[in-house]
Amino acid sequence: MQVFIAADAAEAADKAADIVENVVRSRPRPRLGMATGSTMVGVYQSLVDRYQAGGLSFAETSIYLLDEYVGLDCDHPQAFRNVIRAGLADLVDLRDDALFGPDGSSPDLEAEAQRYEQLVTEACIDIQLLGIGGNGHIAFNEPGSSFEGLSSVVTLSEKTRRDNARFFASIDDVPRQAISQGIGTILRARAILLVALGAHKARPICDALIGPVSIESPASAIRLHPDVSVVLDAGAASLLPAARSES
Ligand code: F6R
Repeated sequence: MQVFIAADAAEAADKAADIVENVVRSRPRPRLGMATGSTMVGVYQSLVDRYQAGGLSFAETSIYLLDEYVGLDCDHPQAFRNVIRAGLADLVDLRDDALFGPDGSSPDLEAEAQRYEQLVTEACIDIQLLGIGGNGHIAFNEPGSSFEGLSSVVTLSEKTRRDNARFFASIDDVPRQAISQGIGTILRARAILLVALGAHKARPICDALIGPVSIESPASAIRLHPDVSVVLDAGAASLLPAARSES
């Protein structure tokens, strides 16, 4: 595992974008697994900047979402498909048919989760981007989730719903369920890139990187993967006693 500690969020976003750019440039048909949320906004903007500067093309790239809320209208701005469109996909030369995600409005959610699991498995993700929840979740795999779990319909914890209420008019509008890749699904990616920003992520990062590898810290599962990069800003790294600093 390589841990990069950046001075601030902007430097962390650029470092994470460097890692993604390297994958996009080195694979003939890059397949990116993408998370959403505040952490990724700067990472995606940095990738958009590189596209607009003329140096980086996504024409051969496919994007696979990590998760999707259940029950939002398909045009809801907080549906993750729309978030990734607005922040990345529509701003670069990604093909219209190269963005994949679970359908959270499917009438048969369990079948949809299985369909998506198969799609992601067949795709073979080159790099999976992850954020981390305040409770240590990755994707929407809350504490207690099996490390072998595959894509499924999951129930969001109250902490996660409270944390995500900032994206909605009120907490009552935050969905209670999502379709999420499982930890087992995530661990099958060729490489993993976890990004965390801010002192409010220091505790879950410390638990994930130096605590026990345990289902109580879903993000600790990344330590079972052979090719992991972690990009932190100083706040998120603040509880790590001996984290390595590189840039
Ligand atoms: C989003 C996702 C979540 C977020 C995590 C951090 O697709 O899967 O696990 O990555 O909740 O969210 P932010 O970045 O908003 O703190």
